[in-house]
Amino acid sequence: MKTIKNFDLKGKKVIIRCDLNVPMKARKIADDNRILESLETIKYATEQEAKVIILSHLGRVKTKEDKKKYSLRPVADRLNKLLDSKVTFVEATRGEEVENAIKQMKPKEVIVLENTRFEDLDGNKESDNNKELAKYWASLGDIFINDAFGTAHRSHASNVGIAKYLPSGIGLLMEREVKQISKATTKPKKPYVVILGGSKVADKIDVIKFLCKKADYVLIGGAMSMTFLKAAGFEVGKSNVENKKLDFCVEMLDKYSNKIVLPIDIITGNEINKNTETHTRFINEIGEDEIGLDIGPRTIKVFKQYLEDAKTIMWNGPVGYFELEPFEEGTRKLLEIISKTKATTIIGGGETASAVIGMGYQSKVSHVSTGGGACLYMLEGKELPALKVLNAKK
Ligand code: 3PG
Repeated sequence: MKTIKNFDLKGKKVIIRCDLNVPMKARKIADDNRILESLETIKYATEQEAKVIILSHLGRVKTKEDKKKYSLRPVADRLNKLLDSKVTFVEATRGEEVENAIKQMKPKEVIVLENTRFEDLDGNKESDNNKELAKYWASLGDIFINDAFGTAHRSHASNVGIAKYLPSGIGLLMEREVKQISKATTKPKKPYVVILGGSKVADKIDVIKFLCKKADYVLIGGAMSMTFLKAAGFEVGKSNVENKKLDFCVEMLDKYSNKIVLPIDIITGNEINKNTETHTRFINEIGEDEIGLDIGPRTIKVFKQYLEDAKTIMWNGPVGYFELEPFEEGTRKLLEIISKTKATTIIGGGETASAVIGMGYQSKVSHVSTGGGACLYMLEGKELPALKVLNAKK
């Protein structure tokens, strides 16, 4: 597979698909890690005197209202501050405005097009990998570079479709991510312990079946654990539960009772806000009006025993609603424990990466990945669609 370094970029229009899907709060960037990690490839391209056209999605765009929430403008503004090159934001995903902006570009300049998922409002074109859209985007450039590791498990027009119509390769972030994660997880040193949490429960839950085969222990926290606790017969109040997956959880608990480790206590709140009253509950004490928002102190002690012995640790998804101070303790304590082990530690996922960086542990783990779903996909031993299309081209 080609990398950006295999191409002569001078004077060429280089489309770089980045994953600039950063967490936003009140239309402000809450964590710019994915932007910072994308800089290396963008800078390399501008140094080679390319004209750089950046594509990315932001959030999940389902309604017209989402367009206000998920414009890439704040991301383009941040890039403008971080890069020496001129960065222009184009408030469109196609059409004259886009084409004129590209015509006027000089080498070393960068333009950022509007959120690729705005095309989902017109028949899900981006997410369904619409051929006509992929061809159109390809027509805007000479070379396509995919650097969006976080999106590599998706088969969308802007990352997979477009690669079919242009000379294509991967960027430096994509290359680094794939190398690090493959190295740690292809033949993991044992004991191999996985921590699974986070809020995208529906996306991640099926991967447990695979992880239970490969890992020695799977420690489950966060919203994911509430679905498992409900499946195990506990009252979980108003917690976020994936009801369609309860039978699956029962099956996993029966089959892998020696591997799956669930919380024994939970920090609950009546609402998801920082001023809510909190309680530490054993898992058989959760009230009908309560929401499980973090793992409790006894669970931390249990998880610690597994983590201290581990030689490989893969962590995907925070174990609590760490963005709110009353529910950050579980995630913080596990990071503290992990930072003291000698295990190879891979942290995957936007939210988990935010926690690690925000809490100051980035230098104390082996690799912080910009991808969560993509990491899990690799752990399952599956070929990422974004790479498959490039491998097929040779
Ligand atoms: C992510 O944050 O996991 C990636 O950017 C992919 O986003 P998605 O889960 O909305 O496809």
